[in-house]
Amino acid sequence: MSNINNTKFGFLGGIDKVVVIGLGQLGLPVAKYVKEKGFDTYGYDINEKAMEVAQSNYGIKQASNFNDFDVLIICVSTHRPDDMFSPQIDSLLSVMEKISREAKTGALISIESTIPKGTSKKVFEKVDHRLHVVHAPHRWYALEENIHGVNQLRIIGGVSSCCLQHGLNFYDGVEIRLSNDSSSSSNKERDSSLTSTSHMKTEGHSLQIPMHPVSSIEVAELTKIIENSHRYLQIAFAEELALYCRANNISFTELRHSLNTKWNVEILEPRDGIGGHCLPKDTKMFVNSSNTIKSKILQAAIEIDEDYREYIKNRDNGDKIVQLKNTDDKQKSQSSLLFQ
Ligand SMILES: NC(=O)c1ccc[n+]([C@@H]2O[C@H](COP(=O)([O-])OP(=O)(O)OC[C@H]3O[C@@H](n4cnc5c(N)ncnc54)[C@H](O)[C@@H]3O)[C@@H](O)[C@H]2O)c1
Repeated sequence: MSNINNTKFGFLGGIDKVVVIGLGQLGLPVAKYVKEKGFDTYGYDINEKAMEVAQSNYGIKQASNFNDFDVLIICVSTHRPDDMFSPQIDSLLSVMEKISREAKTGALISIESTIPKGTSKKVFEKVDHRLHVVHAPHRWYALEENIHGVNQLRIIGGVSSCCLQHGLNFYDGVEIRLSNDSSSSSNKERDSSLTSTSHMKTEGHSLQIPMHPVSSIEVAELTKIIENSHRYLQIAFAEELALYCRANNISFTELRHSLNTKWNVEILEPRDGIGGHCLPKDTKMFVNSSNTIKSKILQAAIEIDEDYREYIKNRDNGDKIVQLKNTDDKQKSQSSLLFQ
């Protein structure tokens, strides 16, 4: 049951103040975008340097508390500080403690960080539906920010239908008519309630980001981590092929090029193994998302990536030894020249 008095909800009087929490690789472009769209934009980060950059380079004001914001966007890291391949939501939960103490009733919390299935509902319980909670994950890609930046088609899910409605107002300026509260209806009803709804553009101030609403917050959470698991799988297959080629004395480059001449085949380059703080962590989030059935194919892919990394490490060490040997030989031959 909602504890929100909807008439008090900030949006009905217009969204004004937005705070972006976590101003790292993702949060900073988010804050810049929100500001460009004309919102009164604040930032908050435990890292003073990150806050300073946002403030001095982009005019993002520093939030000292969360008590006056209409929207709170969460972009904090969700990996272990000492191991970027392992998921950890401690930072997010500690931010939530502060939000639940300070934020005004009726505000919208949007979790944009990548999270394991079930996290949004935990957050929702913490705020006891005094605030709305949506999950609007990113498909942001640093190397192609112009086409794959903040403003591209994104998924959005709400913990309840009123949360989703407020989220859509903010992101897309769209009002949807849901026949049922998604939190109380069956899967089938929820699916049909979303497909049968009408979408209307509102007059309100929005981020103008095209959003694809889904009927449950879990679908939004899973969509993000499965997108990245899918990519992980594609790279792991390329890694396995590279190992196969090496074991069988076949040119991987030639094989890959010939395979990719077919219209529905795209074998990726394995490069140095699957890195960064998104693909390995998000894949683990998905593998661990169920106690009863775990993806066997992804568990195998994780093993393949380990084998491939081992191969790369040995190859590079081998190269170093060869280089050292060559340098040694050169030095020896130079010294033998000197003493001739
Ligand atoms: N960078 C990407 O390409 C990308 C793309 C899609 C999704 N994501 C997701 O977005 C989230 C953030 O990623 P990122 O790349 O910006 O990480 P990042 O490490 O670059 O930045 C995270 C920021 O959060 C801050 N932070 C951590 N704990 C905090 C706390 N308790 N309070 C306030 N600030 C805190 C850190 O100081 C840091 O500045 C992750 O969940 C990531 O998976 C990232």
